Amino acid sequence: MSTGWSLFVIVVTLGMLGGFTWLVLNTRRIQDPDGANKLNAHEFDGITEYDAPMPEWFTWMFIGSIVFALVYLLLYPGLGNFPGLLGWSSSSALEQDQQRAEARFAPLFERYLRTPVEELAETPQAIRMGQRLFGNYCAQCHGTAAQGSPGYPNLTDGHWAWGGSPEQIRATLVNGRRAAMPAWGPVLGDDGIRDTTEFVISLADRDHDAEAAARGAEHYAQFCVACHGSEGRGNPGLGAADLTTGVYLYGGSRETIAASLRNGRNGVMPAQIDVLDEARIHILTAYVYGLPRRHDSAERE
Ligand code: HEC
Ligand code: HEC
Repeated sequence: MSTGWSLFVIVVTLGMLGGFTWLVLNTRRIQDPDGANKLNAHEFDGITEYDAPMPEWFTWMFIGSIVFALVYLLLYPGLGNFPGLLGWSSSSALEQDQQRAEARFAPLFERYLRTPVEELAETPQAIRMGQRLFGNYCAQCHGTAAQGSPGYPNLTDGHWAWGGSPEQIRATLVNGRRAAMPAWGPVLGDDGIRDTTEFVISLADRDHDAEAAARGAEHYAQFCVACHGSEGRGNPGLGAADLTTGVYLYGGSRETIAASLRNGRNGVMPAQIDVLDEARIHILTAYVYGLPRRHDSAERE
């Protein structure tokens, strides 16, 4: 705040408080010299009122709050740029809180960082911490229950595009992932897209048009094998989907699969190393690693 504005705020704030004080003290003085309360001059529907001063306790309450305001403004920031005698600020208070929390949790984080993911995934307190971290940093894309939505993978179903081992999940979180599925519309044309879509559907053993799928198989062998493999099982190194499971990131309808082929897909999982420290990434890795198993046992119950 510039000095001018600061002065303006100070003058207005103190001026208002002064005004209130004057008003309170002034109305206190309206007393009848005889000690008797006079009736007011006006009357409405037979109702009249006394011209009595404010009750004493009310006046004192006002004066009390004005004094409180002055003391507060003296101690805490409130008067323009004047920081207050205590030097308190909301940002330093937040910083102190964070430092205290950090100091309290540091030994726990230290210990967890040295615990293998498989073991951490079975530790109730670590799961609770992971759940809270997931809610803060991951749920906006993957959903609070980690079940995803079209374009955002379900992390509970045991199907992993980039691999589900602790090392692979950790790598996904630390560096993020960029999937690069090229657009095939210009290469295959409408008929080629339709035929290849039938072949992709046949890979998952779903009802399909066998003749079209046979034509599609040729396109597949030429353009798709490099990333999705000859049997369609995908490649976790590239994040290329396993096309045999019938589980799709973008949806499994003919239209959606055809759109994936025609326009390509470029899903991005943002790198977390800029956002989270090693210990938190470790706890989240364990949390995500344990999700499919915890999900399965919850289903059975
Ligand atoms: C350069 C490697 C590469 C090639 C070549 C490639 N794909 Fe892909 N494909 C990917 C990647 C990576 C993804 C995941 C995209 C994402 O997650 O955003 C993918 C996704 C898909 C999907 C969406 C799956 C889902 O879960 O929704 C389908 C369907 C697909 N590919 C089929 C094909 C077909 C058919 C071809 C050949 C015409 C092909 N791909 C060629 C890398 C490739
Ligand atoms: C901005 C949205 C976004 C946020 C935030 C996000 N993710 Fe992702 N995540 C994605 C997308 C999109 C993919 C799929 C990338 C692709 O197409 O392969 C993904 C992929 C993943 C995968 C790989 C899944 C597989 O099939 O191999 C894991 C594991 C994962 N995310 C965990 C997390 C965790 C844990 C967090 C929180 C720290 C997180 N994500 C935060 C969008 C997000």
